[in-house]
Amino acid sequence: MSCSDDGTGSVGAVEARAVVDHSDWKVAAEGATESTVARGERIIQMCAGCHGIGEGAPSPAGPSLHGIMGRRVGSLDSYPYTQALTNQTESWTVKQFDEFITSPQDLYPGTGMAFSGLKSREDRAALIAYLATKSLP
Ligand code: HEC
Repeated sequence: MSCSDDGTGSVGAVEARAVVDHSDWKVAAEGATESTVARGERIIQMCAGCHGIGEGAPSPAGPSLHGIMGRRVGSLDSYPYTQALTNQTESWTVKQFDEFITSPQDLYPGTGMAFSGLKSREDRAALIAYLATKSLP
């Protein structure tokens, strides 16, 4: 049984977005040194108080970040996002993710993510390297 026809007439566009593209994350993983990944593992502890990271890990105050790469913004059925996220049509590319964690409220004003942002470019790069290395399918 197919559930893809939602009757909106935009099935083709929806399906096109559903094809998850990890290529930019793969590049981030390939360029990462071990020490960068280790740094990312420390930094992600800032996120882990709210977000589950590993598959099936409890996610106490936000959507799970497992499989975030290439996922459409605000799209987990299991999480009640604000409209600041559900109104978005793009997916979590490295660039989008980097901009969001730099300053969540600047990228998506009104988001319920109560985190001011990671201002260090190196910290963000390490976090991205960690996710790309540990969580790509
Ligand atoms: C105080 C809790 C908290 C912290 C700390 C936090 N977040 Fe969030 N995050 C949230 C909440 C709540 C949302 C949902 C926001 C909404 O619905 O507007 C969210 C949403 C997100 C999303 C969107 C997910 C999706 O499914 O589209 C990403 C990506 C994200 N956070 C990454 C991070 C990263 C990376 C960190 C650490 C640098 C972090 N967050 C720290 C609470 C937090």
